[in-house]
Amino acid sequence: MADTGENRTSVVVGGATGWAGSALSQGLVEAADLCLTGAVSRSHAGRRLGEVLGFAEPGVEVSGTVEDALASKPDVFVEYTHPSVARQNILAALDAGAHVVVGTSGLTGEDYEVIRRSAEDKGLGVLACGNFSITAVLMMRFSEVAAHWVKSWEVIDYAGAGKVDAPSGTARELAGRLANVGHPEMSVQIGETQGERDARGANFGGTQVHSIRLPGFVISVESVFGQEDERLTIRHDAGTSAEPYVAGGLLAIREVSKLVGLHRGLDTVMELG
Ligand SMILES: NC(=O)c1ccc[n+]([C@@H]2O[C@H](COP(=O)([O-])OP(=O)(O)OC[C@H]3O[C@@H](n4cnc5c(N)ncnc54)[C@H](OP(=O)(O)O)[C@@H]3O)[C@@H](O)[C@H]2O)c1
Repeated sequence: MADTGENRTSVVVGGATGWAGSALSQGLVEAADLCLTGAVSRSHAGRRLGEVLGFAEPGVEVSGTVEDALASKPDVFVEYTHPSVARQNILAALDAGAHVVVGTSGLTGEDYEVIRRSAEDKGLGVLACGNFSITAVLMMRFSEVAAHWVKSWEVIDYAGAGKVDAPSGTARELAGRLANVGHPEMSVQIGETQGERDARGANFGGTQVHSIRLPGFVISVESVFGQEDERLTIRHDAGTSAEPYVAGGLLAIREVSKLVGLHRGLDTVMELG
């Protein structure tokens, strides 16, 4: 455990200078029970985080590598960098004895299997959340409830033109959760589609997911349920700031040390009944 000088949870943020990581870092600095003790960014290594981001903090130095930042032995490591390095960062944090909160999207099922085994072996918790927004988590939970009652559904994922990954992490997570409820019923199986099969979207665990990338959109996800002569749409729309992800990120950081092994989704630690 890093010496925070008090009984506060010490946290290192990987990707602390990024869009999401910088908002979370500011939230950590403002949280009385948490202590930001380290930050990772290759391009700002050696500088003070507050100087880079323009807010007051007690002097956190930015490390150029996750390994350097983990030398302080934090209680919790937050992974908020890039899918190409997320798995190795998470495994390094577990090796250093830290619990891990994962915000980075795009890790594969195989990545999570390796992470799950490492977390279980070490008796540490990993909490991976495709979306830290409380309202987005509610959208997923409400969709799961709907899938118990309405047997046919599809998912639409909307984002701005510049988003390179598809579908979004939230849409993947939503499809995965719906798959745990069941496979949607289809009158015409995808393989029997006449014309262009791709027009029916990509299949994730039985759910057809359609990704739209256009200027003018921020990020939204919609589960559409249909049955005879009625429809139900459950939709979440995010704004442009990273603010909605801060409260959920802080909740995950506070709760992850109570977990052992891999847990997916913020609602794992929300009391939703
Ligand atoms: N779960 C959620 O609620 C949620 C919310 C928002 C975003 N996300 C996900 O979080 C991840 C980060 O998103 P973002 O928008 O904050 O990204 P971003 O603005 O590009 O920031 C990435 C951060 O990671 C650092 N980094 C370290 N190694 C890196 C590498 N190999 N490649 C790229 N960056 C590296 C960057 O600093 P240097 O370049 O200086 O190293 C920077 O601080 C994405 O996967 C995104 O989809 C999840």
